[in-house]
Amino acid sequence: MANKRILSVSLLSADFSNLTQEIQTIEQSRVSDIWFHIDVMDGHFVPEIQFGANIVRAIRKITNLPLDIHLMVNNPDRQTEIYANAGASWLSVHVETCLHLYRTIQDIKKLHVNAGVVLNPATPFVMIEPVIDAIDMVLAMTVEPGFSNQKFIPSVLPKIRELRRLIDKSNPSVLLAVDGGINLETIDDLVAAGVDVFVAGSTVFDKGNHVVNIKALKAKTRD
Ligand code: DX5
Ligand code: ZN
Repeated sequence: MANKRILSVSLLSADFSNLTQEIQTIEQSRVSDIWFHIDVMDGHFVPEIQFGANIVRAIRKITNLPLDIHLMVNNPDRQTEIYANAGASWLSVHVETCLHLYRTIQDIKKLHVNAGVVLNPATPFVMIEPVIDAIDMVLAMTVEPGFSNQKFIPSVLPKIRELRRLIDKSNPSVLLAVDGGINLETIDDLVAAGVDVFVAGSTVFDKGNHVVNIKALKAKTRD
């Protein structure tokens, strides 16, 4: 695999009382191929409310790294322009929330933002097939969305391998991403399955030194 692998650091597990420092420490570490993953939650699609557009705007001002926005909201069509204007580099919507998925993707592209589509653990990979030519990333949830620090669901692995095959066959420029329960143990099978983008929150922030944790995860993703 020639692609560079990305670690998308999920700020859901960062210290919110010290967010600037958390972000700048990671950016200043100069580890390559790092994004910031920002979970937007509406209290409906998932129970909690997290990371509104004002926070995304504030984060955009203090970092040059890509902002990878994961919209866990019902009716994401109402939100895409707001988050594009707030500074999203990537906007990912859940298949389960989109009545008109193709149109939603096109709307994101018109906003000059990279478009991602997210699948919950129980949503089959074939949902992606009709839109594979239109998207930039597929994100397979490896936990149920809504909370950090959950246990990786290993039964999602066969679907991730199917997604890899679909991407290689139909649109190799699409990035394959995973989100939830990624740690120094679970990452190995995901690297072997050909994942390009690894979202990790609690493994980066919960224990020890954030930069050391990032380097350890990134070391695992090298060929
Ligand atoms: C869960 C979120 C994840 C979360 C991952 O709904 O989408 O991005 O931050 O957290 P960890 O890495 O702790 O599983
Ligand atoms: Zn997420």
